[in-house]
Amino acid sequence: MSHVPVLLHEAIEGLSIVDGDVVVDATLGNAGHSQAILNLKKDIRLIGIDLDRQAIERSKEILGSDKRVTFVCESYRNLKVILEKLGVKEINKILFDFGFSSDQIAQSGRGFSFQSDEPLLMTFSSNSEDGALTAYEIVNSWSEEDIRKVIRNYGEERFAGRIAKGIVKAREKKPIGTTFELVDVIKASTPFAYHRGRIHPATRTFQALRIAVNDELEAIQEGLEEGFRHLAVGGRIVAISFHSHEDRIVKHMFRAWSDAGVANLITKKPITPSDEELLNNPRARSAKMRVLEKI
Ligand SMILES: C[S@@+](CC[C@H](N)C(=O)[O-])C[C@H]1O[C@@H](n2cnc3c(N)ncnc32)[C@H](O)[C@@H]1O
Repeated sequence: MSHVPVLLHEAIEGLSIVDGDVVVDATLGNAGHSQAILNLKKDIRLIGIDLDRQAIERSKEILGSDKRVTFVCESYRNLKVILEKLGVKEINKILFDFGFSSDQIAQSGRGFSFQSDEPLLMTFSSNSEDGALTAYEIVNSWSEEDIRKVIRNYGEERFAGRIAKGIVKAREKKPIGTTFELVDVIKASTPFAYHRGRIHPATRTFQALRIAVNDELEAIQEGLEEGFRHLAVGGRIVAISFHSHEDRIVKHMFRAWSDAGVANLITKKPITPSDEELLNNPRARSAKMRVLEKI
């Protein structure tokens, strides 16, 4: 399943690209948004960032040898250093499309999905250094209370207590090594009726572990801060979120800049996908997009 960019037209419109712009795609993924940006104007520079080496390689194949593009395999939370290294002082537009891509689910082999049996890693970075936090470490070595808190706070899972207890009980026999083993534990720990609900019973726990492993909420905050700091006056941030934790951070930071009189909220309310997009791309279901302009 190839990744279909979410809110593509809305994001492009929100960025309002003009010739001469230095554009940062902070979450390059499969270069879906970047490709559209590059097709829009001739005279732009695009800096495409992704933590995942495989995403960078795929994007290089898609965008070919376009001289206007610089690829950077790094976290967007290190934007300051990235721009320093490139000698870029100011940027005009920056796009964040948070979360993971369909390709990471389908082929990363790192355990993002509860639908294929893979090792419990959940790291965005495919070239993770030894010792980087993994989902395996969380479920097999953290205390029941810490696991409960992660699942409760980042997954908003109402059965967090039961699932944490089930995890700790299961790992007494043997470590929980794969996604399917974890799914079995989640199913065994939750009521049968919950297995027949709107979403898979493992959805919230997997989301929670992924957020914790990648320290996603901190990263988003730092990425937005650095993005705004390096934005030229008149420059724009477009941020697409996929769950309430992400959107809350974007909303609060955008509001704080607007209240401080240093930015205009271009979107007073978040933009959501059209019915047509939802029909063609179920992944867009929970997407919310906000746009901010520096003044
Ligand atoms: C939803 S996908 C982006 C899809 C892309 N806009 C497209 O149209 O193909 C999100 C991407 O962000 C990357 N990512 C997640 N956290 C990151 C971080 N802290 N720094 C850089 N990239 C990150 C993931 O590896 C993933 O490729």
